Amino acid sequence: MTDQNRKAFIKSYGCQMNVYDAERMGEALNAEGYDLSDSPEDADLVILNTCHIREKASEKVYSELGRLKKQKEAGKEKGKELKIAVAGCVAQAEGKEIIARQPAVDMVFGPQSYHKLPELLKQSNNTKHVVDTEFPVEDKFAALTKRAPKAIKQRGKTAFLTVQEGCDKFCTFCVVPYTRGAEFSRPFEQIMSEAEALANAEVIEVTLLGQNVNAYHGLDKNGKEWGLGDLLFHLAETRPEFKRLRYTTSHPRDMDQRLLDAHRDIPEVMPYLHLPIQSGSNTILKAMNRQHERDDYLRLMDKIRDAQPDIALSGDFIVGFPGETDQDFEDTMDIIRRVTYAQAYSFKYSPRPGTPAADKATQVPEDVKSQRLTELQALLNEQQIQFNRSKIGQEMDVLLERFGKKEGQLVGRSPWLQAVYVDAAPEQMGQMVRVKITTAGANSISGDII
Ligand code: SAH
Ligand code: SF4
Ligand code: F3S
Repeated sequence: MTDQNRKAFIKSYGCQMNVYDAERMGEALNAEGYDLSDSPEDADLVILNTCHIREKASEKVYSELGRLKKQKEAGKEKGKELKIAVAGCVAQAEGKEIIARQPAVDMVFGPQSYHKLPELLKQSNNTKHVVDTEFPVEDKFAALTKRAPKAIKQRGKTAFLTVQEGCDKFCTFCVVPYTRGAEFSRPFEQIMSEAEALANAEVIEVTLLGQNVNAYHGLDKNGKEWGLGDLLFHLAETRPEFKRLRYTTSHPRDMDQRLLDAHRDIPEVMPYLHLPIQSGSNTILKAMNRQHERDDYLRLMDKIRDAQPDIALSGDFIVGFPGETDQDFEDTMDIIRRVTYAQAYSFKYSPRPGTPAADKATQVPEDVKSQRLTELQALLNEQQIQFNRSKIGQEMDVLLERFGKKEGQLVGRSPWLQAVYVDAAPEQMGQMVRVKITTAGANSISGDII
């Protein structure tokens, strides 16, 4: 059978990098004659693009696979073949163990192999199981750049652009250095060529992506090194099509002056910074191998506010890291009170196989973790509502991105990444509109187009 007229369904878990990867896999499959489907039911190929960051995220995959196995068996009776593929970070971490646990899986491939998807599909027509978890990250980006101008037809008005992948920091709780490999910065020209393709596709908001995006240090063809701040200055200068520039996720150790300058000097760089600290306790920061102290972070936050007083700050927090005492937790609460966040993510520590912290004897009991998380989230929630309320009465640009639940309602993003609800005509989708904010809740604000 040929791959013409076949349908593929891709489901992504985890971070924005996985969303980006799923889009690129979709483009590769389109080129192979597959149509993308919105649901697994009528698909000939289902790819689960997985996340390994916490146990819950990982385990979700196996329950989904159990469901797909049933679909595969039911299809077989009707003469329909379903191919099941596991991609992403669980694939990288567990490799062929996935097939041992769920033999209905046909293909397993890691985040550095998806550009080989057509080839892997061909292999899987002849072999029972295909497993590819190698690490040639350069090949992937080279293949991607070659395909970009043809593949990028319509990514909507907002798009991700991966500039950096992987991580060398080895925080003791984290699987990313193992699943995404060593830190790799994409060459400058590749990024600019993808940016050009996005501009041609009428994208107006670009988010530069990387697991440690501000560690970006790519080379151009003359051997000159570019930092993330340099990239932002260059994009603002050469790509007036982009009205908004964003980037994520940053690490406190890699915030340099040039990036702060970009926030100060470039109107297109949105006033939003996601800068995780994880814990406010120096003891815990050290045990996490974050390689900075709480005061370094607080000083950095002051500098950012000096450069861009209007900035919305965001972060990630882990409660219940091994050895975390009540005092350590209080130090985290104290950091949150001092910084005041516009928005943040918080998690209970989840021991991950193969990471140093998972073997510590000082694991914190589950009920203590839950109690701390509730307390921390109450404080963050309060700050988030406060921040949202501070926008009532303000006029701002909103880029309309999706339909709301109510008829006649569109949802967009404010410069500070808040979800903004407005009454608008469907034709206004994708437009940047001026909105006066009238109400604010915990997770969104709303107003009238003026
Ligand atoms: N590169 C980013 C984070 C990537 S992972 C950084 O350095 O900040 C996204 C978030 O998941 C982390 O910031 C952390 O808060 C959370 N996380 C990672 N590993 C975790 C674990 N084992 N348990 C709970 N949360 C975890
Ligand atoms: Fe994980 Fe730390 Fe790297 Fe972030 S910096 S991806 S938390 S190891
Ligand atoms: Fe998850 Fe991998 Fe992203 S573990 S958070 S999908 S880098």
